[in-house]
Amino acid sequence: MKIGNLDIAKKVILAPMADITDTPFRTIAKKYGAGLTFTQMVSAKGVIENNFDTLKLLAFSRNEKPIGAQILGNDPDIVGRAVVDISKYSPDVIDLNAGCPVAKVTSNNFGASIMEDTKLLGRLVASMSRQFKDQPVSIKIRLGWNKNKISVLENAKAAEDNGASMIIVHTRTRDCRYNENPDWEWLVKIKETVKIPVVGNGSLFQPQDIRSMIEQTGCDSVMIARGALGNPFLFKRYNELVETGKDPGEPDIEELKNTVIEHIKLAVRDAGENIGIKRIKKHIIWYFRNLSGTDDIIKNIFAINSASEMIDFIELHCEKIRNGVYENYKNEYTNENFLRKVQYWLEDQEIN
Ligand SMILES: Cc1cc2nc3c(=O)[nH]c(=O)nc-3n(C[C@H](O)[C@H](O)[C@H](O)COP(=O)(O)O)c2cc1C
Repeated sequence: MKIGNLDIAKKVILAPMADITDTPFRTIAKKYGAGLTFTQMVSAKGVIENNFDTLKLLAFSRNEKPIGAQILGNDPDIVGRAVVDISKYSPDVIDLNAGCPVAKVTSNNFGASIMEDTKLLGRLVASMSRQFKDQPVSIKIRLGWNKNKISVLENAKAAEDNGASMIIVHTRTRDCRYNENPDWEWLVKIKETVKIPVVGNGSLFQPQDIRSMIEQTGCDSVMIARGALGNPFLFKRYNELVETGKDPGEPDIEELKNTVIEHIKLAVRDAGENIGIKRIKKHIIWYFRNLSGTDDIIKNIFAINSASEMIDFIELHCEKIRNGVYENYKNEYTNENFLRKVQYWLEDQEIN
């Protein structure tokens, strides 16, 4: 797929996810065949003010390329200046977040609220395109504010007219929760409205889902968020399905174990042992969530503080799975809980 002058070898893209798509996870996703990954959203204002926390979230290494940086902003001047700063690090794409539904974002007129003002959206994209010179700018939007206010066609057109090279569409409205099905059909209409590549997003969990979305809608590529959590194998499975006609299926326990251990080591290298081990815990729960014994992980993992202890714990857990120790365990937490809220073991957390 071509995004402006950028050639993406593999179609499937890892979505930006706050507190999740850091360098270790992006590295693993790329290794398993993600064609493009994104940083999580960062504030354009934070970038131009050199806010240290913002710049940390934006950091990526050259061997992660191709990579996109995603910004959150609603002022064309600030967004343009952020693009100038970010372009010094040479990301391959810079994306505008115009889809985040979280109240603290939309109440400040960022994220999904940009969809409500097509002219502003156009001016933001124009400012980004002007400052990023000949390189690709994209927007990530939803279908609209709610089902009575679908705005995706005019917003997609405004983005294209103002220089965007790609439109990424989460096929839900701002007020839709994850338990409502996405509406892929809109992708067909968006494809008829713009000439630039359209990337479909929403509830792609299996290689066959990806194939269906592309076949049913004609979208140029897809973006995966929740489906990749603890499951970078999805990229490889889809790529092989396309190349050979055969889905290689879920990884065996040995591959799963090796990937988890590699992810632990990358997390520690990236953030140091203390923070790296804290960050990796949710990923580990996701890696094992479809296997019996996950309750045991949830019960024990939060007391672990060192990399060596964590690796030993994973080795032992995999050994127990192999030996059938958990065969009669019923997981208290089901896939349904994961779909409702990805950090399903934190019951008091706001639904994301
Ligand atoms: C934990 C979490 C964090 C997210 N953070 C971002 C973000 O920083 N920027 C963004 O554009 N979308 C963000 N999203 C939305 C996803 O990129 C994606 O559009 C949405 O989850 C639908 O895709 P899915 O059905 O594959 O999960 C986030 C989603 C989740 C679950």
